[in-house]
Amino acid sequence: MYKITLLPGDGIGPDITAATKKVLAATGVPIEWEEHLAGELAIPQYGTPLPEHVLESIRRNKIALKGPLTTPVGGGFRSINVTLRKEFDTYANVRPARTYPGIRTCFDNVDIVMIRENTEDLYAGIEHMVGEDAAESIKIITRKGSERICRFAFEYAIKNNRRKVTAVHKANIMKYTDGLFLQVAREVAKDYPQIEFNDRIVDNMCMQLVLRPEEYDVLVAPNLYGDIVSDLCAGLVGGLGVVPGANIGDKVAIFEPVHGSAPEIAGQDIANPTALILSAVMMLRFLGEQGAADQVENALAAVIKEGKTVTPDLGGTAKGMEMADAIIEKMLK
Ligand code: NAI
Repeated sequence: MYKITLLPGDGIGPDITAATKKVLAATGVPIEWEEHLAGELAIPQYGTPLPEHVLESIRRNKIALKGPLTTPVGGGFRSINVTLRKEFDTYANVRPARTYPGIRTCFDNVDIVMIRENTEDLYAGIEHMVGEDAAESIKIITRKGSERICRFAFEYAIKNNRRKVTAVHKANIMKYTDGLFLQVAREVAKDYPQIEFNDRIVDNMCMQLVLRPEEYDVLVAPNLYGDIVSDLCAGLVGGLGVVPGANIGDKVAIFEPVHGSAPEIAGQDIANPTALILSAVMMLRFLGEQGAADQVENALAAVIKEGKTVTPDLGGTAKGMEMADAIIEKMLK
Protein backbone atom coordinates (compact mmCIF):
# COMPACT_ATOMS: atom_id res chain seq x y z
CA MET A 1 0.00 0.00 0.00
CA TYR A 2 1.41 3.39 -1.00
CA LYS A 3 0.62 6.27 1.37
CA ILE A 4 0.48 9.46 -0.66
CA THR A 5 -0.31 13.01 0.44
CA LEU A 6 -3.02 14.56 -1.71
CA LEU A 7 -3.52 18.32 -1.91
CA PRO A 8 -6.51 18.90 -4.21
CA GLY A 9 -5.79 22.66 -4.18
CA ASP A 10 -8.39 25.31 -5.02
CA GLY A 11 -10.10 26.72 -8.12
CA ILE A 12 -10.38 23.82 -10.58
CA GLY A 13 -8.19 21.68 -8.26
CA PRO A 14 -11.02 19.73 -6.55
CA ASP A 15 -12.69 18.97 -9.94
CA ILE A 16 -9.59 17.58 -11.63
CA THR A 17 -8.52 15.77 -8.44
CA ALA A 18 -11.82 13.87 -8.25
CA ALA A 19 -11.40 12.76 -11.88
CA THR A 20 -7.78 11.74 -11.32
CA LYS A 21 -8.53 9.77 -8.15
CA LYS A 22 -11.19 7.82 -9.99
CA VAL A 23 -8.80 6.92 -12.84
CA LEU A 24 -6.06 5.87 -10.42
CA ALA A 25 -8.46 3.71 -8.43
CA ALA A 26 -9.24 1.80 -11.65
CA THR A 27 -5.55 0.80 -12.05
CA GLY A 28 -5.77 -1.39 -8.94
CA VAL A 29 -2.50 0.10 -7.59
CA PRO A 30 -3.08 0.19 -3.82
CA ILE A 31 -2.96 3.82 -2.74
CA GLU A 32 -4.05 5.32 0.57
CA TRP A 33 -4.53 9.06 0.11
CA GLU A 34 -3.85 11.46 2.98
CA GLU A 35 -5.95 14.37 1.76
CA HIS A 36 -5.33 17.89 3.13
CA LEU A 37 -6.47 21.45 2.57
CA ALA A 38 -3.83 24.02 1.71
CA GLY A 39 -3.82 27.55 0.32
CA GLU A 40 -6.73 29.99 0.64
CA LEU A 41 -9.15 27.25 1.70
CA ALA A 42 -7.00 26.31 4.70
CA ILE A 43 -6.89 29.83 6.17
CA PRO A 44 -10.37 29.98 7.82
CA GLN A 45 -9.82 26.62 9.56
CA TYR A 46 -6.10 26.71 10.40
CA GLY A 47 -5.18 30.39 10.23
CA THR A 48 -2.41 29.69 7.74
CA PRO A 49 -2.33 28.62 4.06
CA LEU A 50 0.22 25.92 4.79
CA PRO A 51 -0.49 24.22 8.14
CA GLU A 52 2.31 22.26 9.80
CA HIS A 53 0.35 18.95 9.58
CA VAL A 54 0.42 19.24 5.77
CA LEU A 55 4.20 19.61 5.76
CA GLU A 56 4.43 16.72 8.23
CA SER A 57 2.30 14.51 5.97
CA ILE A 58 4.55 15.18 2.95
CA ARG A 59 7.67 14.68 5.07
CA ARG A 60 6.35 11.31 6.25
CA ASN A 61 5.02 9.98 2.94
CA LYS A 62 7.77 11.48 0.73
CA ILE A 63 5.36 11.51 -2.21
CA ALA A 64 2.56 14.01 -2.89
CA LEU A 65 0.09 14.67 -5.68
CA LYS A 66 -0.99 18.27 -5.79
CA GLY A 67 -3.63 20.32 -7.56
CA PRO A 68 -3.15 24.03 -8.29
CA LEU A 69 -3.19 26.67 -5.57
CA THR A 70 -4.13 30.30 -6.11
CA THR A 71 -1.40 32.80 -5.27
CA PRO A 72 -2.54 36.34 -4.43
CA VAL A 73 -0.95 38.82 -6.86
CA GLY A 74 1.22 41.68 -5.56
CA GLY A 75 0.54 41.05 -1.85
CA GLY A 76 -0.98 38.51 0.56
CA PHE A 77 0.72 35.22 1.43
CA ARG A 78 3.78 33.92 -0.37
CA SER A 79 3.25 31.31 -3.10
CA ILE A 80 2.64 27.90 -1.44
CA ASN A 81 4.16 26.26 -4.50
CA VAL A 82 7.42 28.14 -4.06
CA THR A 83 7.35 27.51 -0.28
CA LEU A 84 6.87 23.74 -0.77
CA ARG A 85 9.74 23.59 -3.28
CA LYS A 86 11.99 25.40 -0.80
CA GLU A 87 10.87 23.43 2.26
CA PHE A 88 11.55 20.05 0.65
CA ASP A 89 14.40 21.19 -1.58
CA THR A 90 12.67 19.70 -4.62
CA TYR A 91 15.26 21.23 -6.85
CA ALA A 92 14.27 19.64 -10.15
CA ASN A 93 11.05 20.62 -11.87
CA VAL A 94 10.35 18.18 -14.70
CA ARG A 95 7.84 19.27 -17.34
CA PRO A 96 7.33 17.00 -20.33
CA ALA A 97 5.43 18.43 -23.32
CA ARG A 98 4.49 16.01 -26.07
CA THR A 99 1.90 16.04 -28.79
CA TYR A 100 -1.04 13.68 -28.49
CA PRO A 101 -2.83 12.92 -31.76
CA GLY A 102 -6.30 14.45 -31.61
CA ILE A 103 -5.22 17.75 -30.06
CA ARG A 104 -5.15 20.54 -32.63
CA THR A 105 -1.68 22.09 -32.63
CA CYS A 106 0.69 23.66 -35.17
CA PHE A 107 3.10 20.71 -34.84
CA ASP A 108 2.51 17.00 -34.61
CA ASN A 109 5.93 15.80 -33.46
CA VAL A 110 6.85 17.68 -30.30
CA ASP A 111 8.43 15.68 -27.49
CA ILE A 112 10.33 18.03 -25.21
CA VAL A 113 11.13 17.74 -21.51
CA MET A 114 11.97 20.93 -19.65
CA ILE A 115 14.13 20.40 -16.56
CA ARG A 116 13.80 23.61 -14.59
CA GLU A 117 15.94 24.55 -11.59
CA ASN A 118 13.45 25.04 -8.80
CA THR A 119 15.13 26.74 -5.86
CA GLU A 120 17.33 29.64 -7.00
CA ASP A 121 17.40 32.49 -9.51
CA LEU A 122 15.01 35.44 -9.15
CA TYR A 123 12.59 33.00 -7.47
CA ALA A 124 14.72 33.13 -4.32
CA GLY A 125 12.32 36.01 -3.53
CA ILE A 126 15.02 38.40 -2.28
CA GLU A 127 13.33 41.66 -3.17
CA HIS A 128 13.06 45.05 -1.56
CA MET A 129 12.12 48.62 -2.24
CA VAL A 130 14.91 51.11 -2.76
CA GLY A 131 13.29 54.29 -1.55
CA GLU A 132 9.72 54.78 -2.76
CA ASP A 133 10.22 54.70 -6.49
CA ALA A 134 12.50 51.77 -7.21
CA ALA A 135 12.59 48.09 -6.37
CA GLU A 136 15.40 45.58 -6.50
CA SER A 137 15.39 41.80 -6.85
CA ILE A 138 18.48 39.66 -6.42
CA LYS A 139 19.24 36.79 -8.79
CA ILE A 140 21.00 33.90 -7.10
CA ILE A 141 22.80 31.24 -9.12
CA THR A 142 25.21 28.86 -7.36
CA ARG A 143 27.64 26.25 -8.61
CA LYS A 144 25.96 23.62 -6.38
CA GLY A 145 22.46 24.49 -7.64
CA SER A 146 23.55 24.55 -11.26
CA GLU A 147 25.54 21.36 -11.00
CA ARG A 148 22.78 19.27 -9.44
CA ILE A 149 20.15 20.40 -11.95
CA CYS A 150 22.45 19.85 -14.94
CA ARG A 151 23.43 16.42 -13.65
CA PHE A 152 19.75 15.64 -13.09
CA ALA A 153 19.02 16.59 -16.72
CA PHE A 154 21.74 14.31 -18.11
CA GLU A 155 20.77 11.42 -15.81
CA TYR A 156 17.13 11.92 -16.87
CA ALA A 157 18.23 11.83 -20.52
CA ILE A 158 20.03 8.53 -20.00
CA LYS A 159 17.24 6.87 -17.99
CA ASN A 160 14.60 7.92 -20.49
CA ASN A 161 16.48 7.10 -23.70
CA ARG A 162 16.83 10.72 -24.74
CA ARG A 163 19.58 11.87 -27.10
CA LYS A 164 20.25 15.54 -26.45
CA VAL A 165 20.38 18.15 -23.66
CA THR A 166 20.17 21.89 -24.42
CA ALA A 167 21.11 24.44 -21.73
CA VAL A 168 19.00 27.62 -21.84
CA HIS A 169 20.54 30.86 -20.55
CA LYS A 170 21.26 34.55 -21.15
CA ALA A 171 24.97 34.38 -20.41
CA ASN A 172 25.80 36.99 -23.03
CA ILE A 173 24.19 39.64 -20.80
CA MET A 174 24.23 38.12 -17.29
CA LYS A 175 27.83 37.07 -17.44
CA TYR A 176 28.20 36.15 -13.77
CA THR A 177 24.90 34.43 -12.94
CA ASP A 178 23.92 32.80 -16.22
CA GLY A 179 27.61 32.64 -17.10
CA LEU A 180 28.15 30.36 -14.09
CA PHE A 181 25.14 28.22 -15.03
CA LEU A 182 26.44 27.75 -18.57
CA GLN A 183 29.99 27.05 -17.46
CA VAL A 184 28.76 24.34 -15.06
CA ALA A 185 26.44 22.87 -17.73
CA ARG A 186 29.42 22.55 -20.09
CA GLU A 187 31.52 20.90 -17.37
CA VAL A 188 28.78 18.41 -16.46
CA ALA A 189 28.19 17.62 -20.15
CA LYS A 190 31.75 16.28 -20.37
CA ASP A 191 30.78 13.43 -18.00
CA TYR A 192 28.05 12.31 -20.43
CA PRO A 193 29.71 11.94 -23.84
CA GLN A 194 26.91 9.65 -25.02
CA ILE A 195 24.41 12.56 -24.81
CA GLU A 196 24.65 15.39 -27.34
CA PHE A 197 24.92 18.80 -25.68
CA ASN A 198 24.35 22.34 -26.93
CA ASP A 199 23.13 25.64 -25.50
CA ARG A 200 20.80 28.42 -26.60
CA ILE A 201 20.30 32.00 -25.45
CA VAL A 202 16.77 32.14 -24.07
CA ASP A 203 15.30 34.59 -26.60
CA ASN A 204 16.69 32.62 -29.52
CA MET A 205 15.47 29.44 -27.77
CA CYS A 206 11.89 30.76 -27.83
CA MET A 207 12.10 31.53 -31.53
CA GLN A 208 13.69 28.15 -32.35
CA LEU A 209 10.99 26.33 -30.38
CA VAL A 210 8.14 27.90 -32.32
CA LEU A 211 9.91 27.29 -35.66
CA ARG A 212 11.54 23.87 -35.23
CA PRO A 213 10.43 22.24 -31.97
CA GLU A 214 11.26 18.76 -33.28
CA GLU A 215 14.98 19.61 -33.01
CA TYR A 216 14.77 19.83 -29.21
CA ASP A 217 14.72 17.02 -26.68
CA VAL A 218 15.68 17.72 -23.04
CA LEU A 219 16.08 21.37 -22.03
CA VAL A 220 17.72 22.48 -18.79
CA ALA A 221 17.33 26.01 -17.49
CA PRO A 222 17.54 28.23 -14.42
CA ASN A 223 14.25 28.84 -12.65
CA LEU A 224 12.72 31.86 -14.44
CA TYR A 225 13.56 30.85 -18.03
CA GLY A 226 12.42 27.31 -17.20
CA ASP A 227 9.09 28.67 -16.01
CA ILE A 228 8.48 30.76 -19.11
CA VAL A 229 9.85 28.37 -21.72
CA SER A 230 7.91 25.43 -20.26
CA ASP A 231 4.64 27.36 -20.77
CA LEU A 232 5.75 28.04 -24.34
CA CYS A 233 6.29 24.28 -24.75
CA ALA A 234 2.82 23.70 -23.27
CA GLY A 235 1.44 26.01 -25.97
CA LEU A 236 3.15 23.91 -28.64
CA VAL A 237 1.29 20.78 -27.57
CA GLY A 238 -2.20 22.13 -26.92
CA GLY A 239 -2.07 24.31 -23.84
CA LEU A 240 -1.77 24.12 -20.11
CA GLY A 241 -4.60 21.59 -19.71
CA VAL A 242 -2.41 18.77 -21.05
CA VAL A 243 1.02 19.33 -19.50
CA PRO A 244 2.08 17.50 -16.32
CA GLY A 245 4.92 18.24 -13.94
CA ALA A 246 6.99 16.90 -11.07
CA ASN A 247 9.10 18.57 -8.39
CA ILE A 248 11.81 16.15 -7.41
CA GLY A 249 14.35 16.36 -4.60
CA ASP A 250 16.60 13.84 -2.90
CA LYS A 251 13.97 13.05 -0.23
CA VAL A 252 10.56 14.17 -1.52
CA ALA A 253 8.75 14.21 -4.89
CA ILE A 254 5.64 16.33 -5.49
CA PHE A 255 3.69 15.78 -8.70
CA GLU A 256 1.53 18.61 -10.02
CA PRO A 257 0.21 20.01 -13.30
CA VAL A 258 1.92 23.04 -14.83
CA HIS A 259 -1.33 25.02 -14.93
CA GLY A 260 -2.85 27.15 -12.22
CA SER A 261 -6.23 27.22 -10.50
CA ALA A 262 -8.10 28.75 -13.50
CA PRO A 263 -10.69 30.43 -11.19
CA GLU A 264 -12.86 31.51 -14.15
CA ILE A 265 -13.81 27.89 -14.93
CA ALA A 266 -13.74 26.50 -11.37
CA GLY A 267 -16.56 24.46 -9.86
CA GLN A 268 -18.23 23.55 -13.16
CA ASP A 269 -16.25 20.36 -13.83
CA ILE A 270 -15.29 21.63 -17.29
CA ALA A 271 -11.53 21.84 -16.61
CA ASN A 272 -9.41 19.32 -18.42
CA PRO A 273 -8.12 16.71 -15.94
CA THR A 274 -5.40 15.52 -18.38
CA ALA A 275 -2.50 17.47 -16.85
CA LEU A 276 -3.20 16.13 -13.35
CA ILE A 277 -3.81 12.60 -14.67
CA LEU A 278 -0.48 12.75 -16.55
CA SER A 279 1.19 14.08 -13.38
CA ALA A 280 -0.20 10.99 -11.63
CA VAL A 281 1.23 8.86 -14.48
CA MET A 282 4.65 10.42 -13.77
CA MET A 283 4.09 9.55 -10.11
CA LEU A 284 3.24 5.93 -10.96
CA ARG A 285 6.46 5.67 -13.02
CA PHE A 286 8.43 7.18 -10.12
CA LEU A 287 6.96 4.47 -7.87
CA GLY A 288 8.00 1.78 -10.37
CA GLU A 289 4.39 1.04 -11.42
CA GLN A 290 5.21 1.10 -15.13
CA GLY A 291 2.35 -1.21 -16.14
CA ALA A 292 -0.32 0.95 -14.51
CA ALA A 293 1.33 4.12 -15.86
CA ASP A 294 1.26 2.77 -19.44
CA GLN A 295 -2.33 1.59 -18.98
CA VAL A 296 -3.52 5.08 -17.95
CA GLU A 297 -1.43 6.98 -20.51
CA ASN A 298 -2.49 4.75 -23.42
CA ALA A 299 -6.17 4.97 -22.45
CA LEU A 300 -5.94 8.75 -22.09
CA ALA A 301 -4.20 9.05 -25.49
CA ALA A 302 -6.95 6.91 -27.05
CA VAL A 303 -9.72 9.09 -25.57
CA ILE A 304 -8.00 12.26 -26.83
CA LYS A 305 -7.44 10.75 -30.28
CA GLU A 306 -11.08 9.70 -30.53
CA GLY A 307 -12.10 13.25 -29.51
CA LYS A 308 -15.62 12.24 -28.48
CA THR A 309 -15.38 12.60 -24.71
CA VAL A 310 -13.03 15.54 -24.17
CA THR A 311 -13.39 18.83 -22.30
CA PRO A 312 -14.13 22.19 -23.99
CA ASP A 313 -10.46 23.29 -24.16
CA LEU A 314 -9.89 20.29 -26.46
CA GLY A 315 -12.92 21.16 -28.56
CA GLY A 316 -15.37 18.81 -26.83
CA THR A 317 -18.35 19.22 -24.54
CA ALA A 318 -17.60 16.59 -21.90
CA LYS A 319 -17.28 17.23 -18.19
CA GLY A 320 -13.96 16.32 -16.56
CA MET A 321 -15.56 13.36 -14.79
CA GLU A 322 -17.06 12.09 -18.06
CA MET A 323 -13.58 12.20 -19.57
CA ALA A 324 -12.29 10.21 -16.59
CA ASP A 325 -15.04 7.59 -17.12
CA ALA A 326 -14.13 7.32 -20.82
CA ILE A 327 -10.48 6.75 -19.85
CA ILE A 328 -11.47 4.05 -17.37
CA GLU A 329 -13.62 2.34 -20.01
CA LYS A 330 -10.60 2.18 -22.36
CA MET A 331 -8.36 0.93 -19.53
CA LEU A 332 -10.68 -1.94 -18.74
CA LYS A 333 -11.15 -3.04 -22.36
P1 NAI B 1 -3.97 29.23 -15.14
O1 NAI B 1 -3.06 28.11 -15.52
O2 NAI B 1 -4.84 29.00 -13.97
O3 NAI B 1 -4.90 29.61 -16.39
C1 NAI B 1 -4.35 30.03 -17.65
C2 NAI B 1 -5.35 29.69 -18.76
O4 NAI B 1 -5.37 28.28 -18.98
C3 NAI B 1 -6.80 30.07 -18.42
O5 NAI B 1 -7.43 30.45 -19.60
C4 NAI B 1 -7.38 28.78 -17.91
O6 NAI B 1 -8.79 28.70 -18.08
C5 NAI B 1 -6.67 27.75 -18.76
N1 NAI B 1 -6.50 26.46 -18.06
C6 NAI B 1 -5.62 26.19 -17.07
N2 NAI B 1 -5.75 24.92 -16.67
C7 NAI B 1 -6.73 24.38 -17.40
C8 NAI B 1 -7.35 23.09 -17.44
N3 NAI B 1 -6.96 22.10 -16.64
N4 NAI B 1 -8.35 22.88 -18.33
C9 NAI B 1 -8.75 23.86 -19.16
N5 NAI B 1 -8.22 25.10 -19.18
C10 NAI B 1 -7.22 25.35 -18.31
O7 NAI B 1 -3.04 30.50 -14.92
P2 NAI B 1 -3.38 31.92 -14.27
O8 NAI B 1 -4.74 32.37 -14.69
O9 NAI B 1 -2.19 32.74 -14.58
O10 NAI B 1 -3.35 31.65 -12.71
C11 NAI B 1 -4.49 31.47 -11.89
C12 NAI B 1 -4.02 31.20 -10.46
O11 NAI B 1 -3.28 29.97 -10.40
C13 NAI B 1 -3.06 32.28 -9.92
O12 NAI B 1 -3.42 32.52 -8.59
C14 NAI B 1 -1.70 31.65 -10.00
O13 NAI B 1 -0.81 32.15 -9.05
C15 NAI B 1 -2.03 30.19 -9.73
N6 NAI B 1 -1.05 29.23 -10.25
C16 NAI B 1 -0.80 28.14 -9.48
C17 NAI B 1 0.07 27.17 -9.94
C18 NAI B 1 0.28 25.97 -9.09
O14 NAI B 1 -0.42 25.77 -8.12
N7 NAI B 1 1.22 25.11 -9.41
C19 NAI B 1 0.75 27.28 -11.22
C20 NAI B 1 0.37 28.46 -11.98
C21 NAI B 1 -0.49 29.40 -11.50
